[in-house]
Amino acid sequence: MTYLPSADRYKKMQYRRCGHSGIKLPAISLGLWHNFGHVDVTETYRKILHLAFDSGITHFDLANNYGPPPGSAEENFGRILKEDFRGYRDEMIISSKAGYTMWDGPYGDWGSKKYLVASLDQSLKRMGLEYVDIFYHHRPDPETPLEETMSALDLIVRQGKALYAGISNYPAAEAAKAIAILKDLGTPCLIHQPKYSMFVRDPEEGLLDVLGNEGVGCIPFSPLAQGLLTNKYLHGIPEDSRAAKSTGFLQKDQVTPERIAQIKQLNDLALKRDQTLAQMALAWLLKDKRVTSVLIGASRAEQLADSLKVLDNIAFSAEELAQIEKILAA
Ligand SMILES: NC(=O)c1ccc[n+]([C@@H]2O[C@H](COP(=O)([O-])OP(=O)(O)OC[C@H]3O[C@@H](n4cnc5c(N)ncnc54)[C@H](OP(=O)(O)O)[C@@H]3O)[C@@H](O)[C@H]2O)c1
Repeated sequence: MTYLPSADRYKKMQYRRCGHSGIKLPAISLGLWHNFGHVDVTETYRKILHLAFDSGITHFDLANNYGPPPGSAEENFGRILKEDFRGYRDEMIISSKAGYTMWDGPYGDWGSKKYLVASLDQSLKRMGLEYVDIFYHHRPDPETPLEETMSALDLIVRQGKALYAGISNYPAAEAAKAIAILKDLGTPCLIHQPKYSMFVRDPEEGLLDVLGNEGVGCIPFSPLAQGLLTNKYLHGIPEDSRAAKSTGFLQKDQVTPERIAQIKQLNDLALKRDQTLAQMALAWLLKDKRVTSVLIGASRAEQLADSLKVLDNIAFSAEELAQIEKILAA
């Protein structure tokens, strides 16, 4: 059956400006790291993509290596774009990245110009696109001069293969340098993608200040700590969870009794706010104006539907925030 997007999709979402740029992103963006590979079920991820677009999610985040196998998330996304979303490309912000191991030999990893340019060409072919909206360097490379990696992003944007440049996993000091180099080159850094959640607070140690001061957007990834910050692990590790799957990145030993104790207390607080824990965890990030969007994952459309309800309440009282800090410090 032909997919027809919901006519009122843009009324359902909030859009937030990305740093000082011309781009607005939905408060919730969808990432395709897990659940969209060849190991996954087409009809399940097709439903997730339909619900996302129907709900005003315009931003879809990929990378060369998403799958498994690596590259298959881009292939599957490209196929569904062609089959279901023909005619809607201009309503979407599609991103990809290179920086982690992708192919054998010295040119399929890290941050050389050779790797970034070749990898984006491969990503575009897999997705059947002429350009991506955002192309990221996926992680800092300690050996390649930062100038080379940033000039690769600049080149890619000038070639029209990406509209905007981004960086991911760069700590505050490296991010500041990368942002300055890109500015000099005339291709401003649009956005930074750090790991950030109630359980991973590193961006608060300088990175958010850099991004706020420089007018660069921030899109935290794994805002639900890969599912830990939901009601999923309250009673152990369910079979259908990322921690239980052999292809999942979340390891069973990360689900410790101490973590579960914190999750239970956070869950109780969320219920008092009339929210699920997932909704409260996302709201907690979105309360900071420097956070442009939260980049979530979902293994089922029902999870996405649940997370989307965060938009009903992203405000916290000082008392609630203090309670959260107390739970996280334990
Ligand atoms: N730049 C980088 O280096 C980098 C690294 C990692 C991720 N990312 C990006 O960030 C995106 C999101 O990462 P992530 O998937 O780790 O994000 P996440 O939102 O922290 O975790 C998603 C997982 O949480 C569970 N979940 C989600 N919503 C739920 C709900 N409402 N109730 C119960 N469980 C729920 C599901 O787990 P189950 O599968 O167990 O059901 C889902 O697969 C990725 O797709 C990717 O685009 C970027």
